[in-house]
Amino acid sequence: MAYEMIEVETQGPAAVIRLNRPAALNALCDQLMQELGQALRAADADPAVAAIILTGSEKAFAAGADIKEMQARRFPDTYLNDFIGASWEAVLTIRKPVIAAVAGFALGGGCELAMMCDMILAADNAKFGQPEINLGIIPGAGGSQRLTRAIGKSKAMEMVLTGRMMSAEDAERAGLAARVVPVADLLPEALKIAGKIAGLSAPAVAMAKEAVNAAFELPLREGVRLERRLFLGLFGTEGQQEGMAAFVEKRKPVFK
Ligand code: CAA
Repeated sequence: MAYEMIEVETQGPAAVIRLNRPAALNALCDQLMQELGQALRAADADPAVAAIILTGSEKAFAAGADIKEMQARRFPDTYLNDFIGASWEAVLTIRKPVIAAVAGFALGGGCELAMMCDMILAADNAKFGQPEINLGIIPGAGGSQRLTRAIGKSKAMEMVLTGRMMSAEDAERAGLAARVVPVADLLPEALKIAGKIAGLSAPAVAMAKEAVNAAFELPLREGVRLERRLFLGLFGTEGQQEGMAAFVEKRKPVFK
């Protein structure tokens, strides 16, 4: 598949999808989002891929939805054409772990895209923000909800109401980013995470992802019930037998 605004390569068990629209700081235009959706679905369907890494350049993960493309949009066409709808949520439909490796600006839709991924690994130069208020709009791809759940009301409110950016260190401290690494180590560290995941039991990985993501959708009681059903189901997998046998036999497990 030939893409114009992203690059896709396989590195070991990881599919690395790089947003590649440098002249616009990876602004998320329609074509880019269509290509991203296709690449994500292809990687999800590829049995050789254990995890997906979504990244940008050193300067920008993505500076948001494309403002120049949005400028001419009007209601009700925005609504009728499902702007910031299904094409933006492709990443939420992916069953394999998706790691956002974020360097530089992750603003507006860029921050929202990173938050739709399963975890954010931040380079030390990353800057997160929801500056839509400066454009006379508000976040439209889940920012007001996911940012608030990630970092709490006061911090999210300040960012969404004033457009203030958050540094990588602050993002880690607040729980938005899993870790901060030097920018040169960003992809290698993301690949290490993907490599670790690739060596584990695939059903356990898929169910772990499903269970954690359910915490954002379900009341506690329902979430715990779902977790228990998944947990009990794993006792029917080879992975559980191998993992526990290996522990008892004091050897490393070999998952198929
Ligand atoms: N859309 C379209 N083009 C963008 C863009 C965007 N979101 N962000 C940057 N660009 C373009 C600039 O227009 C510029 O292009 P030209 O050279 O053709 O003028 C090029 O990228 C480089 O940008 P700057 O010259 O502005 O670079 P800078 O280093 O001085 O500033 C920046 C970087 C602070 C990120 C600044 O570009 C900026 O503020 N960008 C907009 C960020 C923003 O408001 N994002 C939210 C968008 S709305 C949204 O995302 C809605 C939603 O919730 C889905």
